[in-house]
Amino acid sequence: EPTERIVERARMLKDAFEIALLRDAAVRLDRVMPAALLSVRAGTTEARVAGAIEAAMREAGYERPAFDTIVASGPNSALPHHRAGERTLAAGDLVVLDFGGVLGGYCSDVTRTVSIGAPSREAQRVYAAVHEAQAAAIAAVRPGVDASSVDAAARGALAAHGLDHVFGHGTGHGLGLDVHEDPRIGQPRPESPSATIEPGMVFTIEPGAYLPGFGGVRIEDDVLVTATGCEVLTRIPRELVSLS
Ligand code: GLY
Ligand code: MN
Ligand code: MN
Repeated sequence: EPTERIVERARMLKDAFEIALLRDAAVRLDRVMPAALLSVRAGTTEARVAGAIEAAMREAGYERPAFDTIVASGPNSALPHHRAGERTLAAGDLVVLDFGGVLGGYCSDVTRTVSIGAPSREAQRVYAAVHEAQAAAIAAVRPGVDASSVDAAARGALAAHGLDHVFGHGTGHGLGLDVHEDPRIGQPRPESPSATIEPGMVFTIEPGAYLPGFGGVRIEDDVLVTATGCEVLTRIPRELVSLS
């Protein structure tokens, strides 16, 4: 008998054992962020920052990175799938730091965007809009709603700032043994209907805005769906940090 998505569907709902590991994997990123911030400065390279983040993850007890650490600086921050290259960071850059580790087999995934030097007015405007979009999406998470409505909340908030056209990826993805699992938190697609949100799901909320040639902002956190809403598992502050 051919079957479809039986395992994937079962994996969307985490049991207490899995939730404990996912919570620890997310909370422990608090120990990684200070090293990440110390490593970001004008004159260093994206690759060196990624190395510092991965070393701090090992120090914090993670078995391995959950994916190739992303450090996207200056114009590269406008490329959501950039990894970490040899570009030298410079004053005025926005820098997207996207990292996560595997703990007890379970993944975490967080993104913060920082500024080297004081952010320009445009950088502040884009950051505030993405921050607002993420808050709107988190507020939209509750049992019984369609996953696409969480995406719509983020997209609507960005649209109010004229930035929905530069948000070219989905709002989030399930997190578990793999860093990308169901449910998909995105726009409705005829070929893959979106899931109904249920307690015990763990997924990311990661809206962004990417302005070619200028730079981009993404803010990503991991949430656990509860009986009435959600618990944000990642606890790193979300305010825009300016580094010297
Ligand atoms: N870093 C991969 C992701 O955020 O989905
Ligand atoms: Mn990520
Ligand atoms: Mn993610």
